[in-house]
Amino acid sequence: MAATTEDAMARGEGAESIDASWRQAIDERLQALMPVQALDGNPTCRELAEAMRYSLLAPGKRVRPLLAIRTALHFGADPNRMLDFGCALEMVHCASLMLDDLPCMDDASTRRGQPACHRKFGDATTTLAAIALLNQAFGVIARDSALDPSQRCWLVDRLSVAVGTAGLVSGQCRDLIERAGALDGSAIAEINHQKTGVLFELATAGAGGILGLADDELDALQRYAGHLGQAFQAADDLLDVRRHAEGSGKDIGLDRDKAGSVHRVGEQALRRLVEAELAAGDRVLPAARGEHALDGYVRALFARFV
Ligand code: IPE
Ligand code: IPE
Ligand code: MG
Repeated sequence: MAATTEDAMARGEGAESIDASWRQAIDERLQALMPVQALDGNPTCRELAEAMRYSLLAPGKRVRPLLAIRTALHFGADPNRMLDFGCALEMVHCASLMLDDLPCMDDASTRRGQPACHRKFGDATTTLAAIALLNQAFGVIARDSALDPSQRCWLVDRLSVAVGTAGLVSGQCRDLIERAGALDGSAIAEINHQKTGVLFELATAGAGGILGLADDELDALQRYAGHLGQAFQAADDLLDVRRHAEGSGKDIGLDRDKAGSVHRVGEQALRRLVEAELAAGDRVLPAARGEHALDGYVRALFARFV
């Protein structure tokens, strides 16, 4: 099903319900794009398919696909072309969470309001299911019929950089090792950029590339999303204390010994960081050419988040 922003607008619905209808479209597409038929048909691998479904279809906020969709709406374009690309980003993100929760990493017990994948399916199945989702993400972009071949190739390349040593993998490694010590703000910002910012940048600048925007606009989108990533990670760090954790569906207290955590730097410092990064983002965001701007979604997201 293709979600129709125009239908929602025609029904007089606001931006909230437009995002809700896109969320539904994302969930349906994620289900359709999951490569589980072969696994389901094999009794040995059925559990693996179940772990993939369990993690990917759990109620996440779908921030990365919604950023791609909102980027299209910001420029007055049809967001349907962003759907598979956004779903690929969600698969990568979900895989990173499954691995992040393993006992050898953050050792989390709860994710998206349910037992973490490794608590239900074990470490080996969780690791394999995460690899399967990560791998599938590249295939989804490579086969995306809404994109021309050069766009697919460009996005596959960018995704490999974002996942790899310049992005998630380094960020996760540094988060686990360096944050056990004392770090200055710029090192923490670098780690947060690799852990979180790179996928946000790809969601917005990747969507801009699909739309054929000029280089200066792609650059501005990338910088906007970089600030957003910093704000998002700082806001997420606030969730590690009980008074903010309600509704987050995650454990609390796992960051207690990490540099830059709410326990170490305090709530006010993190709140100031969120606000400063959001304001810096607003200064670089290109003016909206469509009605449902990117910053409207972002403001609503943060209002619910912290
Ligand atoms: C959690 O990401 C991990 C961070 C990058 C801070 P989200 O807050 O987007 O998690 P879900 O997708 O809603 O579960
Ligand atoms: C999650 O990071 C993994 C990545 C962003 C790659 P965190 O450990 O900071 O996030 P939560 O608190 O587990 O969601
Ligand atoms: Mg974690």
